Amino acid sequence: MPADTDLAGVKVFKFDPAVDDAPRYAAYEVPYQGATVLQVLRRIYRQFDPLLAFRWGCEGAGDCRCGACALLVNGRPALSCRKAAEAHMVIEPHFKFEIIRDLVVDFNAVRKDIARAGDVPVKISIDPGKCVQCADCITLCPVGVYEARKGVIVASGPEYCCDETCRQCVTYCYQNAIQVKTVTSVHS
Ligand code: SF4
Ligand code: SF4
Ligand code: FES
Repeated sequence: MPADTDLAGVKVFKFDPAVDDAPRYAAYEVPYQGATVLQVLRRIYRQFDPLLAFRWGCEGAGDCRCGACALLVNGRPALSCRKAAEAHMVIEPHFKFEIIRDLVVDFNAVRKDIARAGDVPVKISIDPGKCVQCADCITLCPVGVYEARKGVIVASGPEYCCDETCRQCVTYCYQNAIQVKTVTSVHS
């Protein structure tokens, strides 16, 4: 039996829009030390809730990120396969997209009612002297941070960014034009 200090208190968002009137949160105590958030979700799936819906693909292997596992951990966007589990976690679907079920979202369906209060935890800059408007960053970003405005690539949605768990744009912009910096002062 693990000691209590080895167990994380985890609340997981549960909602099936097809049958549920409102979302709820299911609470679990799960071993977490040395695990990623994705591994904790798998433990919950195996031990407590075989109906829990969550998604992953590449599991963070290598530099390339598929982005399938993007969600919120304690209100912050993250890739669950790269995010270290913490002792207290509220795990929710990424707020930008329509919910399919539980933590699974439709990345092709942006919510019409996005209301995001509070600070943006990252600062994203594109060096105009280096950027060649190739649009690779639009394609690479799993959560749609970038867009083209009048032919210029801009980071129009930094609040969606999975930050240090991702860095896909920084890694693959061949012009080395992108900087993604965590704004530490807004961390709770
Ligand atoms: S990948 Fe780099 S060079 Fe290409 S549009 Fe994005 S910032 Fe510009
Ligand atoms: S690090 Fe870059 S690619 Fe990853 S979510 Fe943030 S803006 Fe998108
Ligand atoms: S599973 Fe591919 S980025 Fe997490």
